[in-house]
Amino acid sequence: MSKPRVAILISGRGSNMTALLEAAARPGYPATVALVLSNKAEAAGLERANAAGIPTAVVASKGRTRAEFEAELTATLAQNRIEILALAGFMRVLTAEFVAIWTGRMLNIHPSLLPAFPGLDTHARALAAGVRLHGCTVHLVTPGVDEGPIVAQSAVPVLAGDTESTLAARVLEQEHRLYPAALAWLAAGQVRLEGARAVVAANLAAGALANPLPQFAPLRRDEQTP
Ligand code: GRF
Repeated sequence: MSKPRVAILISGRGSNMTALLEAAARPGYPATVALVLSNKAEAAGLERANAAGIPTAVVASKGRTRAEFEAELTATLAQNRIEILALAGFMRVLTAEFVAIWTGRMLNIHPSLLPAFPGLDTHARALAAGVRLHGCTVHLVTPGVDEGPIVAQSAVPVLAGDTESTLAARVLEQEHRLYPAALAWLAAGQVRLEGARAVVAANLAAGALANPLPQFAPLRRDEQTP
């Protein structure tokens, strides 16, 4: 059986795109990346995709209505016979009409453990909230931003002394592990929708990738509270 054809949609540097391209280049990966598409001509990820020999396209979003943008997007995806979309730092909200066409076939990666911290500035908000665990989520896309059924998550510890950038780097490392796994599961037909939840085949550890816990040094006796 032929592998599903995937388009990766980006707006920027494309490090998740690179992780997906590297995974898809391995033998046995169950999807083909047939297109990298950006809504910004200057997205650095486009050069990386070109260097990897993957077809690229730019569909400009600036200065156009959503309808105009999405009409060209749909036409470009159809021309390239795309079956699955992977949003990877794609900074354009898609309409409910467009999302409906791709129900169950469009993934996004978000840098938090959803449903905590949807939207922007997730690492700063996690630090401000004092959470002990943070991470990333791959989810199916629904019209509500960062609200779709969760396919996979990976958690990282928040360490004393973390800054936004140290925390972002720890999460990004997990994003690059998680997204190729989640896309492979979807492409291989291992993800199914059950109401508002995405269910991942039981032999795939239910979609969780956990980071090893940090070393825990017990308090010395004189530091312990009674
Ligand atoms: C990632 O943190 C991703 O979770 C978020 O946007 C960022 C994109 O980074 N949606 P990159 O372009 O993949 O490097």
